[in-house]
This record gives sequence, C-alpha cells and structure tokens, in this order.
Amino acid sequence: MLEFKRHRRLRSSKNLRSMVRETVLKKEDLIYPIFVKEGENIKNEVSSMPGVYQISLDLLEEEIQTITDLGIVSVIVFGVPKEKDEVGTSAYCENGIVQQAIKKIKEVNNELVVIADTCLCQFTNHGHCGVIEEGIILNDPTLELLSKTAVSQAKAGADVIAPSNMMDGFVAAIRVGLDEAGFSHIPIMSYAVKYSSSFYGPFRDAAHSAPSFGDRKTYQMDPANRLEALREAKSDVLEGADFLIVKPALSYLDIIREVKDNFTYPVVAYNVSGEYSMIKGASLNGWIDEKAVVMEKLISMKRAGADLIITYFAKDVARWLSE
Ligand code: PBG
Ligand code: ZN
Repeated sequence: MLEFKRHRRLRSSKNLRSMVRETVLKKEDLIYPIFVKEGENIKNEVSSMPGVYQISLDLLEEEIQTITDLGIVSVIVFGVPKEKDEVGTSAYCENGIVQQAIKKIKEVNNELVVIADTCLCQFTNHGHCGVIEEGIILNDPTLELLSKTAVSQAKAGADVIAPSNMMDGFVAAIRVGLDEAGFSHIPIMSYAVKYSSSFYGPFRDAAHSAPSFGDRKTYQMDPANRLEALREAKSDVLEGADFLIVKPALSYLDIIREVKDNFTYPVVAYNVSGEYSMIKGASLNGWIDEKAVVMEKLISMKRAGADLIITYFAKDVARWLSE
C-alpha cells in the first residue's frame, strides 16, 4: 500500500480551516500613521501614496473620529512643519505641529493610544536625522535634542515615544530625559532595527524629509546585515526600550523572526511607505486583488513574529476585518 500523510484532511472546510489556523490578525494589532501638516483646511493626497493624506489640525477631528469608529486603537503621528532650521527647533518647541496634533487627538479620543515619532529629519532644513557639522552627522549632540523632543511630546500627551533616529544611545538619552521630567510611566517603542532602505521613498514625499545631501547610510543599517540587527536590538533593550520595531517589514521577515526569538519584548513590524505604494500601484492597475494581497502580507508579518504592525493599510484592514 502506498503510504503518505493526508494533510488535506485539515483543509476540507472553511470552519475546519479556521479551527486550525495558527496566526490571526486583529484590529488591535494595527497602528495607523498620520501626517499632520501645519496650516488650514489641508487634505493633500500624497501623490506616491494614493489614499494617504497630509491633513491640517482643523481637519484632524473628523479623521480621528473615522479611525475610532473603525475600531483602530492606535496611531503614530508624523509632523510636517512650516519652519525648518539647522537644528530642527520645530521638533521640540511647545507649540510644534506634532505637539498640537497630539493634544488635539487626545481631546477627540482620550483612549486612542497616541504614539509620537521622535526624530529631527522632518524639522531640519538639511533633512538629516541629526545635528550636522561640516557635512558630518554628529551623534552625541543630537541625543540632547531627541530627549527634548520626546519630553515635549510626552508633555503634550503622547502615550508612547517612538524614536526613529538611529543615533547610538538614543533610547538611553530619551529614557533619562523622560524619567527626569516625570514621565517614567511612558513607554519607548524604539525603531531598534532600522535599515537604510529604498522603500522609504514615498514617505519622504509625504513628510518632506528627504536629505538634501548624501544619504542615511552612516546611521541606518546595511540591508545585508543580520547579526548587527541583534546587536542593535540588544542595546536598545539594555537602554530601556519597551517595544522593538523592525523596519521595513516585507523584505525583513527573517529579521522579525530573529528579534522575536531572541528577546522577550513586543515586536512591531513597520510596513513602510514603499511597500504600501507597490501594492496600491499594482491594485489600481487591476493587476492584483488588493484586499487579498494586503491580508496575506500582514498575516505573513504576524507569522514571522510581529505582535503589532504599523501600516498605511490600517483603515482598509479594519474595514475588511469587520466584513
Ligand atoms: C524618519 C522616518 C522615516 C520613516 C519613518 N520615520 C524615513 C527615513 O528614515 O527616511 C519611514 C516610513 C515609511 O517609509 O513609511 N526618521
Ligand atoms: Zn529621521
């Protein structure tokens, strides 16, 4: 008799398949990025990211209401300021666009978990994530500014601080800054493993944050490296990170798995702008089934070990999960 295993037994009906499904995606897994732009009555669609908008403070209430009604429990806030300077002052001034947006969001829905992206690149006139001297991005002088930024965001009401800057010691500097300012209860969601990726292109359109010279390769990671990701994650854990972000997601599922297996902290996959635009572009052309492809991609991130996913598809996914 021919001997073989009958795997198809467990796939024979929809209900049986749902009973043996190993991974689930739920609304609480989703974090929705919002771009808040200084000015009035602005709702600009980002040309490279159809369906994603820069919005002004006066239109934020409606947007937060929609997000809340869809059952999304968390957003990450990015600011697009009017004023930029050499040292990114508008990132840490009390009335900065991000600080105002956080206040506004908490007014509309106090229970929404508001995560503040903490970096300088949207706020510096050179578009780099740190202080510059003679074309060199300086590590230690940047730390102080990041810490100031985080404290000002916490003061505005941010529930979680998410530093995306990739200077060495940024988690430690922010942790000390927050603790000293009375925010020891505020968690840090660190962009622990952030690669220097070409998939960030559309975000830089959305946030006006492309570097005016050079690239980010002296601070963001080389895509060829795996062990370095573990060193980065380890130092952030030692410095006090509460969540570990891996970014981007799709080309880095192996890294998500490694970080999940090597540490005991919640892992966050950042499904970045270029990953969004590729799927959007193909589906707008009718080449792929958008819903099916997005759901497959997100479940693969969870299967790889992500506990949470930052994604521009969050609103669509929340809708699809309710169908
Ligand atoms: C900036 C920042 C970037 C993203 C989030 N924060 C871009 C960059 O490093 O240039 C990328 C997000 C995306 O592509 O969706 N520190
Ligand atoms: Zn930056």
